[in-house]
Amino acid sequence: MTTKNHQKVVLVGDGAVGSAYAYSMMNQGIAEEFVIVDVVKERTEGDALDLEDAQVFTSPKNVYSGDYSDCKDADVVVITAGAPQKPGETRLDLVNKNLKILSSIVKPVVESGFDGIFVVAANPVDILTYATWKFSGFPKEKVIGSGTSLDTSRLRVALAKKFNVDPRNVEAYIMGEHGDSEFAAYDEATVGSKPLKVVAKEHGLTDDDLAKIEDDTRNKAYEIINRKGATYYGVATCLMRITKAILRDENAILPIGAALNGEYGLDDIFIGTPAIVNANGLGGVIEVPLSDKEKDLMAKSAETLKKVTQDGLA
Ligand code: 2OP
Repeated sequence: MTTKNHQKVVLVGDGAVGSAYAYSMMNQGIAEEFVIVDVVKERTEGDALDLEDAQVFTSPKNVYSGDYSDCKDADVVVITAGAPQKPGETRLDLVNKNLKILSSIVKPVVESGFDGIFVVAANPVDILTYATWKFSGFPKEKVIGSGTSLDTSRLRVALAKKFNVDPRNVEAYIMGEHGDSEFAAYDEATVGSKPLKVVAKEHGLTDDDLAKIEDDTRNKAYEIINRKGATYYGVATCLMRITKAILRDENAILPIGAALNGEYGLDDIFIGTPAIVNANGLGGVIEVPLSDKEKDLMAKSAETLKKVTQDGLA
């Protein structure tokens, strides 16, 4: 039971993604209390001091370096802690390292008495989201992964450039694993209510061109990592958007890593799909009426995740 009358977020993991997320939250004026937790205490103290300097130009907030006991009355705990991908590594390569780190985080968060929503972004995110649910013993609805939010954003931006429209008006989703087995659900996608495939044709794009855009989306993280060693602004902004939907009880439909309960013929998995996000966390999965080919891609992506999850948690 919380006695506070404001909103509180705890960030666990103050690396490049975590601090970009903190900055984004600050800029958007979300959550009056923002706590940063990391094993590197000097870094969280430094970041809190740096971030509080932004208050005068954004909105007043209490930003400070804390510890797991601060999770007790938090509304949301965001986990970005974990080893990042190095050039040449896939997200799935990180599983053993990051599961170990994750279990050392979830335990003390739960022991603090935390009763809010977990949002997970560390990679491989779908597996770590599943593991957060397992380790915490929380209801599935209270655990959300960043899933394919970033990939969806990447796809929309790429398509918007081709169609010369605002990316927010491209209703297309990347679904499945946040990783190499993900796919673009083009068959149901629209641009301003018009079927995306029709709009693509009008712009002279062939199916091969669309496949290339899908492939480039899948590989964009590698392109960024090869150039600057890490990706952070994109995912940090996705995390801000998910947190905002929770704290403002928006019922927003966002592409997230959601627990499935029979949708797409799948369960016992967290995977990228559009879903409703509100103050309870997951408000419901939007089951996209996928074509047969897309259903197969979703099943294959789920199979990949289940295999790595079973091996990782065995
Ligand atoms: C990304 O897609 C590496 O998962 C991270 O940018």
